[in-house]
Amino acid sequence: MCGIVGAIADRDVVPVLIDGLKRLEYRGYDSAGIAVVDGDDVRRVRRTGRVAEMEAAAAQEGFNATLGIGHTRWATHGGVTETNAHPHVSHGVALVHNGIIENHEQQREKLRAMGYEFESQTDTEVIAHLIHSFLAQGADLLSAVQQAVRELHGAYALAVVSRKEPGRMIAARMGCPLLVGLGDGENFVASDVSAIVQATRRVIFLEEGDTADVTRASVAVYDGNGEAVQRDVHISDVSLASLELGPYRHFMQKEIHEQPRAVGDTIEAVMDNGAFSASLFGEGAADVLRDVEGVQILACGTSYYAGLTARYWIESIAKIPCSVEIASEYRYRDAVANPKNLVVTISQSGETLDTMEALKYAKSLGHAKTLSICNVPESAIPRASRLVYYTRAGAEIGVASTKAFTTQLVALFTLTCTIAKLRGVLDDATEASYLDALRQLPGSVQHALNLEPQIVAWSERFAPKQHALFLGRGVHYPIALEGALKLKEISYIHAEAYPAGELKHGPLALVDEAMPVVVIAPNDALLEKVKSNIQEVRARGGEMFVFADADSQFGESEQVHVIRTPRHVGVLSPIVHAIPVQLLAYHAALARGTDVDKPRNLAKSVTVE
Ligand code: F6R
Repeated sequence: MCGIVGAIADRDVVPVLIDGLKRLEYRGYDSAGIAVVDGDDVRRVRRTGRVAEMEAAAAQEGFNATLGIGHTRWATHGGVTETNAHPHVSHGVALVHNGIIENHEQQREKLRAMGYEFESQTDTEVIAHLIHSFLAQGADLLSAVQQAVRELHGAYALAVVSRKEPGRMIAARMGCPLLVGLGDGENFVASDVSAIVQATRRVIFLEEGDTADVTRASVAVYDGNGEAVQRDVHISDVSLASLELGPYRHFMQKEIHEQPRAVGDTIEAVMDNGAFSASLFGEGAADVLRDVEGVQILACGTSYYAGLTARYWIESIAKIPCSVEIASEYRYRDAVANPKNLVVTISQSGETLDTMEALKYAKSLGHAKTLSICNVPESAIPRASRLVYYTRAGAEIGVASTKAFTTQLVALFTLTCTIAKLRGVLDDATEASYLDALRQLPGSVQHALNLEPQIVAWSERFAPKQHALFLGRGVHYPIALEGALKLKEISYIHAEAYPAGELKHGPLALVDEAMPVVVIAPNDALLEKVKSNIQEVRARGGEMFVFADADSQFGESEQVHVIRTPRHVGVLSPIVHAIPVQLLAYHAALARGTDVDKPRNLAKSVTVE
């Protein structure tokens, strides 16, 4: 969603801001802007649409400065207009904001009564005027920001500059990520390390309630009470290559093809360890995991489907109950907590607001055993969790999650086997066979990728369709759900997924020649059941596209098309079968000419409710 970048240097920071905003584009946005302190003036340029349009306008107006802030906005309060775009300015104070201010209406009334006039419908403009109101009472910029944020309810990450204090930039955070990048004689702020990685890898992650006073030569951090604090300096391992497209046409395509590497990196720690071990999940993990009575998984979207897959593994391998719930539902219901259960949150970004709030709610109910499976180091959700397993997918830029999903599954399988072992229900031979299956997984994923030419041929038949049905059974049912989600979000073909056995209880009524039916049909214990379900579709004239394994006997016909993975890979089969449905969605979207990496209305990190 929204993105922030700011810089203070001896050189022109405008290219740094523009470059940073371009690297934040993947998060999803509908307008962009920068403000710079130029002499004793604050100049800004804002545009709806792409950063490139705003960049052209800035170039035309000759922007050049050593201090500036920039923003990509994903509209929440107020429509997609230039006046609602950030930065917002009040009497020479310019600010960019991620998050939502809940008491903006009351603040607006108060500020109006003080004589402030509003040009936008945003909650953000309120903060600019509020800061100015404290400056007008004699505060300096740091203290004005600290006083202003005390009056705000809600979530914010802020970067603020003022024409009166051209040598400093103030940053503040509560509920939204924000970091300070440390350069050599220059410093930066950003909501996401990818925005500044071209300038520095040394970063300080601000904590809840922190403010930072950033000059060219120094960074001072203060906690929520205004006390000076030391925060650790981290070296980011985000690589520039992971943020660039290379030879690929889209990030989604690149990320699909990176999966053998991503899966390989994610299992590396397990392989180095030569066993499933609690130490993989952090210090003291054995004590947390040993006596868990059940697992409660909380997540959204694709991450939720990873959780649904894991439920089959956890109950059958670790032999404890597992329930999986959409985070935005869990957080608002009267859940009954069992503090002996392990709460697992799954999030690629680590900053999805619903998942974060569900975690907070679970903790408030007495859940102390919390574990986060996450792809972004030091993001909010793992930081709020007792244990963590970082997937090593690398930066995921395409809005549609692909490599994050398969690596989440690897992490969840590792968790399952670790709990099973601690509970004494995983014998040595089975552990060895699972380790071997994991070792071979990158190769199996590569075999699935090699099916791409056949899938391209199918996708051309899909492209003109309006609707599609996805079917799966057992542990592959969540893969059908994921396939339908991928297809709908990037190709805009309406797609739904059902457990194949449920078809006759309603959705079969939808089946006719116009409805393609995708079936995930690996050679597992439910294959014969799936085959019967397929007959039900066939008898109604439906056209079927079946993903099977080489060793399952499937007769092809005019109505039944089959693509086979080289072999059935046993317990890890859902991971391998995720690949063809990703490829199908990608190529169907390509054939329809949609914006694959930035599907309409969607954002990469969903930091609002
Ligand atoms: C779909 C997709 C979304 C995310 C969901 C959760 O392709 O990417 O459904 O999975 O918004 O995001 P994270 O995993 O970052 O919490």
